[in-house]
Amino acid sequence: MKPENIRKYRPFPPVHLPDRTWPDRTLSAAPIWCSVDLRDGNQALPVPMNVAEKLEMFDLLVDVGFKQIEIGFPSAADTEFNFARRLVEEKRIPADVKPQVLVQAREHLIRRTFESLQGMRQAIVHLYNSTSPLQRRVTFGDASQAQIKKLATDGATLIKELAAATPETAITLQYSPESFSDTELEFALEICEAVMDIWEPDTENKIILNLPATVEWTTPNVHADQIEWFCRNLKERDKAIISLHTHNDRGTGVAATELGLLAGADRVEGTLFGNGERTGNLDIVNVALNMNSHGIPTGLDFSDLPSIRAVYERVTRLNVPERLPYSGELVFTAFSGSHQDAIKKGMDRRAAEQAAGKNGDLPWGVPYLTIDPQDIGRSYEAIIRINAQSGKGGVAYILDREHGFDLPKTMHPEVGRLVYSQADTMNRELTVDEVRDVFFEHFVNVSEPLALVDYELNHHPAERGQVECSATIIFEGQESKIQGQGNGPINAFVHALEKAGLKTFNLTDFRSHAVRGGSDADSAAYVQLKEAGDGRLVWGCGVDPSIEMAGLKALVSAYNLLSKSS
Ligand code: KIV
Ligand code: ZN
Repeated sequence: MKPENIRKYRPFPPVHLPDRTWPDRTLSAAPIWCSVDLRDGNQALPVPMNVAEKLEMFDLLVDVGFKQIEIGFPSAADTEFNFARRLVEEKRIPADVKPQVLVQAREHLIRRTFESLQGMRQAIVHLYNSTSPLQRRVTFGDASQAQIKKLATDGATLIKELAAATPETAITLQYSPESFSDTELEFALEICEAVMDIWEPDTENKIILNLPATVEWTTPNVHADQIEWFCRNLKERDKAIISLHTHNDRGTGVAATELGLLAGADRVEGTLFGNGERTGNLDIVNVALNMNSHGIPTGLDFSDLPSIRAVYERVTRLNVPERLPYSGELVFTAFSGSHQDAIKKGMDRRAAEQAAGKNGDLPWGVPYLTIDPQDIGRSYEAIIRINAQSGKGGVAYILDREHGFDLPKTMHPEVGRLVYSQADTMNRELTVDEVRDVFFEHFVNVSEPLALVDYELNHHPAERGQVECSATIIFEGQESKIQGQGNGPINAFVHALEKAGLKTFNLTDFRSHAVRGGSDADSAAYVQLKEAGDGRLVWGCGVDPSIEMAGLKALVSAYNLLSKSS
């Protein structure tokens, strides 16, 4: 901002709480969760959900494990009212789930809200009115604190009467001093206690006092101070459930919620993926998975997050941002080489430890990944993507995990260089199949200028352990038969090449393995040759159903790559 524009803003006043206790606490248990996807989330959609979509969202929220779900504002519109009725008529509300209905402190809206509850076993009636000095001055035209308090107490009185006349529904009462985040704390407390005096909660039937950061005006520590101050000063704390409802205007809704819980709150309202007005509500997925990542169970099941996201994106017509913690497309993807390398090492080590029998309680510990992506239904396949910035570890990881090729370590840089230069040329990341294609094109079964047409191995009649190799080769277009002997097929073939005047190298490394997960039972072999003249080292790979042939093809590939690069 330009300095002349910054001048119109003021620091947010801190809370005087020198003996605050929340900084020394740690989170050890999950709060009561309440989803407001069908209300705050729905009202923030360019195209709000229709009744069928809301029903689908409701079922999804139930499946996730929410026991309190705000189903909307039934007095605000017919769709909202009809949705509440459909839930009742279609008996969609499980016995352990409390639907919550929101209503402003206005008589006709309160009466209509109670009509929507008919036939519900239980419900939370959520009354709110705005309380901050800014709202009192601007929205309510310089209303006094007394006038705002009367709005709340009149609403509370009517709700008490109507609740008494609705004995078939077990009603929990909730009050929100909307805009709590910039309301004078003493006034917020006064108005909440006035509502409590009317509703007369007890320790069995507690009131829910929801303290919304309707607009996030300040830092999470000040929010935590507000919550701790409120909890400490509320006169009958044991008769109230203190609820948080953060928004995300400063991008710290999750932090504010976590600190608010440390400060004594019992309950959290929010939405899936942080949907909601402006920058959104609290992202409940984020807070719940943060808890899981510290070993805290939450009662919410995000083990198939991609499916939850798919329903959400369809019914809301919104996209989950690519970098959103846990849920975004790219959050388990490493492009940087050093990160890919460390992730591969972490995964390999974990697999080895698991193979050694340390299963159940093996603590998670893979660099750069706070949780195991598989625990929320993400696949390893998506973890590493290859672009021109990637390192050798990433390519080796893809070839290993996705295609079953366990390349020798010293081969990684050679293969990596080629794959990255391909990504650079294409100016985009490569898919896992493209990585395999580049590898095959450059390193596997290379057959020019030398090609192996056929071979036969015989054990040497006189010398134990020696084999004779008779092979048909094509060299620079000319077919010929060659013959040699050695202590194995590869050495015998090298000897045959030497006798034919084609050996210009030393064999420095060889290994082979069965290709994991291949549709046909292929073997892969890797041969490293050293140029006799300048000592250059080159790797080649052979793939064939026969392990012997794979080895010979690997040698031929390395020979050809050496010839090409000289
Ligand atoms: O953000 C808010 O203040 C609200 C209230 C109605 C709880 O959504
Ligand atoms: Zn809200």
